[in-house]
Amino acid sequence: MTWRVEILHGVNLNMLGQRDPLHYGTLTLTDLDVQIVGWGKELDLEVSCFQTNSESEYVERLHALRGQVAGVILNPGSWTHYAYSLHDALELTGLPAVEVHLSDVQSREPWRRLSVIGDLCLATFSGKGPEGYRLALQRLREEFHEAAL
Ligand code: DQA
Repeated sequence: MTWRVEILHGVNLNMLGQRDPLHYGTLTLTDLDVQIVGWGKELDLEVSCFQTNSESEYVERLHALRGQVAGVILNPGSWTHYAYSLHDALELTGLPAVEVHLSDVQSREPWRRLSVIGDLCLATFSGKGPEGYRLALQRLREEFHEAAL
């Protein structure tokens, strides 16, 4: 069985490759998406990737994913830390979700320590670079297998 998973990249993540490499590495978003889709295939997951710099589009994408995918992986960028609209939109999807940050948000500025979606997520992978997405896919796969038992 192949499950569908969507990766939701938020604000400023289209600028990967031009952001501080110490926090975000050197991959562009396209490179990152290719890597994530490949990891998905290895895990029997059909992965689609979405990015927007518009909070309303991000929320609308979550609404549209209700019932369409088995799970979601979110890296909302700085919205993570204050955009409660994302919390409510994610909650109403009812989908299993995992949060990912390329950088280690807990060891940066204090305002990055709060996540408005963390309580809705099965796990958070932060500071592991692209590998965080592979771990997130694995975590979702475990969840799908358990739910199918
Ligand atoms: C980020 C961390 C956020 O604090 C930041 O605003 C980002 C990227 C990350 O992937 O490390 O834009 O989500």
